Amino acid sequence: MTPNERTRLARQASEILIDNDRGDYTVPTKGLYPFQWNWDSCLSALGLAALDEDRAWREMETLFAHQWPDGMVPHIIFHQADEGYFPGPEIWQTGRPVPTSGITQPPVAGFAARRIFERSQDRTAYAPRVRSLIEKIDRWHAFLYDARDPQGEGLVAVIHPWESGRDNTIDWDEPFRHVPREGITPYRRRDVEHADPAHRPTKAQYDRYIWLVEHFRGHAWNNAVLHNASPFRVVDPAFNAILIRSCADLSELAGMLGAEDIAEANRSRAEKGLAALESLWSEADGQYLCLDRTTGRLVRSLSVGGLLGVLAAIPQERARAIGDRIAALMTRCAYPVPSHDPSDPLFDAKRYWRGPVWLIVNYLLADGLKAAGLSEQAASLRAGSLALIEKSGFAEYYDPLTGEPCGGDRFTWTAAMVLEFLRGADGELGRI
Ligand code: GLC
Repeated sequence: MTPNERTRLARQASEILIDNDRGDYTVPTKGLYPFQWNWDSCLSALGLAALDEDRAWREMETLFAHQWPDGMVPHIIFHQADEGYFPGPEIWQTGRPVPTSGITQPPVAGFAARRIFERSQDRTAYAPRVRSLIEKIDRWHAFLYDARDPQGEGLVAVIHPWESGRDNTIDWDEPFRHVPREGITPYRRRDVEHADPAHRPTKAQYDRYIWLVEHFRGHAWNNAVLHNASPFRVVDPAFNAILIRSCADLSELAGMLGAEDIAEANRSRAEKGLAALESLWSEADGQYLCLDRTTGRLVRSLSVGGLLGVLAAIPQERARAIGDRIAALMTRCAYPVPSHDPSDPLFDAKRYWRGPVWLIVNYLLADGLKAAGLSEQAASLRAGSLALIEKSGFAEYYDPLTGEPCGGDRFTWTAAMVLEFLRGADGELGRI
């Protein structure tokens, strides 16, 4: 890529971030997702930091201003009314001063905060704000291990597919059988009015998403009981690896800020989680698998969720095996990394999390591979990701076989990840 091409891509990415900026938070994209989403915001903050560090911290502060008293950080904050989205606040009915959803999302905040602070232009000035933010992130981690790992096994469960961030992955097909469809209030989907229905989850899946929301609402969103009350309880290796990595990063960040208690608590959470993650490893598949906690069985579904284990400091031989799996997947696809193994008959190249490429996933995988010393593989993910953007622009996700852009357009976190990938080996982006 020539310096001019780099500059052009960086400018386009910045324009998208500015366009989707609503002052104190960004929307993932216009139309389809008109509110603030949890992990979108934290990953987008990495991109915002390249434009304006103050604005990046504000993005995360806004999210954490809506943390629940029990420590949960919701997956959506409904800052303003918008008719174009379903299910809106009137369905969730969580009773929060500013309406929010009632479930969470992958906890990338600790990971993002450490990275932004390490690159900070003025650590002394930002330290008091970051000190206050890390207390909230720590409370979120404590919530997750309390409420979603009630037996203290070291691994947390997601109780709704939306919590994983991979809404309709093939991983959920089997565990979703325990979730009924009957008795839900009739509803009208809005997502299929903004995006091609063939690229989105099916009606059968949507019915179950809504059944779970109504079920949790029936329990008054009481997180002390929701885990055991949910017919969907899945231990997702990606969610856990993200949490383990965020605990480890929060521990480092807390150490830099002199918060020894937070540093220690998160170091021990990360150690316990890392040891427990071993139980999800499948030697035959060379990756981690999901565990259905309602049956106690591993789900043999070869999705990118099991590859994202590499984001945590897993044993070297596991990281190498995951690197080999990614290399094998890349020989079957024009663009890395498919969200599901194309040799599975259920693979669907255009349907959301059942095959398409997501740039945030490539970024997290590349980061984990690099940390494990697999720099060449990380570099090839970076090159493949930028080639895809050059060909198809800043979409929500892409067909891995053709590179066709799918879902929403001008996507915030895609743009943020491009800015991350454009940084040189020294971590510098240069002038945009
Ligand atoms: C979809 C994705 C989820 C993301 C959200 C907003 O629901 O599956 O991961 O956070 O859109 O972009």
